[in-house]
Amino acid sequence: MDGTEPISGFSRLSREEKIEMASNLSSDPEAFTRELAGFWHRDREVQRILEEFSENTVSNYCLPFGLAPNFLINDRLYILPMVIEESSVVAAASKSAKFWVTRGGFQTEVISTAKSGHVYFKWKVSRDLLLDHEKDIERYLIEHTSHLTENMRKRGGGIKSVRILDVAPEMPGHFKLEATFETADSMGANFINTCLEAFARLLPEFFQDQGILIDENDLEITMAILSNHTPECIVSCKVQCPEEEFAGMGAGLTAGEFTGKFKDAVNIANHDPYRAVTHNKGIFNGVDALVLATGNDYRAIEAAGHAYASREGEYSSLTGIEVTGGFFTYSLRLPMAIGTVGGLTGAHPLARLSMDLLGFPDAGELMQITAAAGMANNFAAIWSLVTSGIQKGHMQMHLSNILTSLDATVDEKETASRFFHDKEVSYRAVEDYLIQLRRSL
Ligand code: MEV
Repeated sequence: MDGTEPISGFSRLSREEKIEMASNLSSDPEAFTRELAGFWHRDREVQRILEEFSENTVSNYCLPFGLAPNFLINDRLYILPMVIEESSVVAAASKSAKFWVTRGGFQTEVISTAKSGHVYFKWKVSRDLLLDHEKDIERYLIEHTSHLTENMRKRGGGIKSVRILDVAPEMPGHFKLEATFETADSMGANFINTCLEAFARLLPEFFQDQGILIDENDLEITMAILSNHTPECIVSCKVQCPEEEFAGMGAGLTAGEFTGKFKDAVNIANHDPYRAVTHNKGIFNGVDALVLATGNDYRAIEAAGHAYASREGEYSSLTGIEVTGGFFTYSLRLPMAIGTVGGLTGAHPLARLSMDLLGFPDAGELMQITAAAGMANNFAAIWSLVTSGIQKGHMQMHLSNILTSLDATVDEKETASRFFHDKEVSYRAVEDYLIQLRRSL
């Protein structure tokens, strides 16, 4: 195989056969094979579990699993597990947590927990006929899926409502059946999609059962899928303290100057989408790290967060700030469809360990912990931005990555870290330094 022909039956090959086939495309097939095998878990059973999460798995991709201590959230102290490849995220979270641990910590609240999904369909009969039957359709679908929802209802969840809505003025004749769900401690994607696919099958049956004569071409189901837009599944997080607490934050700023600059930075993110995207990215540095560590779906959380940030019609900051009467209040609101039951949470050994470290929180508590991680990272980012800038801390953390990419030994890393302690770090500077160091030995 030389990579120029399509492959069929790849998924049916053994792991070793897949590796062999792929290795022929690499510059060094032997090293390629050795490297992949080097990351297999030594425990065969654990390796089997990891492989089964996905398809065509040939190895494991390791990311740092870090710990951020001193997170005081609603008066309870946590050490947060964070899985992230970006240097300085865990350090930033820890720095923020340490600052707030003596100032009341993070105050969080679950605002709402509903999720929704849709069956999209084309309807060629009268719109009024359809809408007139909305309540009957709701009753019929809830009743005829009771066997699917029984367990979820026992856990306090289930289908909350079913409505029929137009898709968009630009698409006359296209409708969506919108169902809202409570999914208790699970993220709920499987539950929601199972219900929606059942609805799609049941909708034509409803009309038949009611004796409403429609031609089979009058109703065409387009698709059934949950929505990752979860503006009704919201968590909030707040930090607050007297303004005077911000004396000595850096760059020679007084407390008032610091909070003034901080407020300006947040307001810029409120009004300038170019800044808002980066501001919110800093929030997701913390959120994603925790979501990954607990085996949840960070793509869903990210997509929902960015959609929520655009809810007023323009992309904006997810945080809000108030500095009044000498008091500083910084708040965050974001959607968080997250679970503690099902998915990888209990299946991935390190996700399970993360849950254990957090005291096996329920979904609501995990939503709040995750929001605190997001707020912590954002607070630390703004703190750096309005004082020293982010490059100083960031590049010091990045130094270790640069040294690794330059194949520095442990001794060289130690010597370089001492040398760059008070110097500007850049790839070029580190490379030059290493060349000099090696020459001098
Ligand atoms: C870097 O990963 C995140 C920041 O750019 C966030 C921000 O600018 O607020 C530091």
